[in-house]
Amino acid sequence: MRILITGANGQLGHELQRVLGRHALISMALPEFDLLKPDVEAQVLTARPDVVFHAASYTDVDGAEREPDKAMAVNAEGTERVAKAVDKAGARLIYLSTDYVFDGRKTSPYIETDEPNPLNAYGRSKLEGERRALACCPNTLIVRSAWLYGAHGKNFVNTIMRLASEQPALRVVADQRGCPTHAGDLAVALARVLDMDMRGLVHATGAGDCTWYEFACAIVSLIGARVAVHPITTPETKCLALRPAYSVLDNRALAEAGIVLPHWKDALVRFLSSRTPVHALNQ
Ligand SMILES: NC(=O)c1ccc[n+]([C@@H]2O[C@H](COP(=O)([O-])OP(=O)(O)OC[C@H]3O[C@@H](n4cnc5c(N)ncnc54)[C@H](OP(=O)(O)O)[C@@H]3O)[C@@H](O)[C@H]2O)c1
Repeated sequence: MRILITGANGQLGHELQRVLGRHALISMALPEFDLLKPDVEAQVLTARPDVVFHAASYTDVDGAEREPDKAMAVNAEGTERVAKAVDKAGARLIYLSTDYVFDGRKTSPYIETDEPNPLNAYGRSKLEGERRALACCPNTLIVRSAWLYGAHGKNFVNTIMRLASEQPALRVVADQRGCPTHAGDLAVALARVLDMDMRGLVHATGAGDCTWYEFACAIVSLIGARVAVHPITTPETKCLALRPAYSVLDNRALAEAGIVLPHWKDALVRFLSSRTPVHALNQ
């Protein structure tokens, strides 16, 4: 299969390239491949893909509050460009989206048919990207994930590991609950989706759920860092963007297809065991 990956330099992009290595891969990334530029369509068509994993995205949630037009241009208009090209190529589109399309008012996991209602500009731009992808390319699968982390890029796990080695105490938000997801596990699940004729929308996150505070405590404990972790509330974070208090995703559509991602704690243990040795942090 000829598989095109957008956002190849992002954390999921890296993992997709690693997991899909047996296929003919076409990796697209900034600056040559820019969703803001009209030549995106020609680039996709020239590559003659069978499948496009569209992982490129404006992902800075607080940044999107400052520049909502740019977030919309990248995530919605850029996705429309990609989707039109994928449709013209007669290929399949797999578009990565987010738990932040939901407002967090539910108290049980969100299923695929729940009504989205994003609280922030990032979520609105990703939801519009979903709509345009489906409208422009019927052979589209939207995959909503959450709280992604991997070896490459800026993410919560890497940040906590760094701060744990720099600061005596950490303050972490304890009133937002979601599903940490190892980008490598998501890439493996996406590779399995390739063999299935799935269209529409699925949720794909690590199993189980926790708050950011619980997630941070697990990281600190697993790396053996001597740092206190204090729970704080969302208003204390002074973040620009509103975030859902509860964005746990029910992965039932994927589970019905026989695909279940590992529990977030198991994934974290696996991830950290391949990272910095514990003693390095305590020196
Ligand atoms: N990270 C999460 O917690 C999370 C949660 C749920 C869903 N998702 C979704 O999962 C997908 C992959 O996320 P990720 O964590 O791998 O994100 P990431 O590491 O931020 O990767 C996204 C990539 O897109 C690139 N990009 C930004 N603007 C672009 C543009 N105008 N044209 C082309 N490429 C552009 C970025 O390049 P630069 O780095 O150079 O800007 C980056 O390499 C995204 O669709 C995201 O919305 C992520």
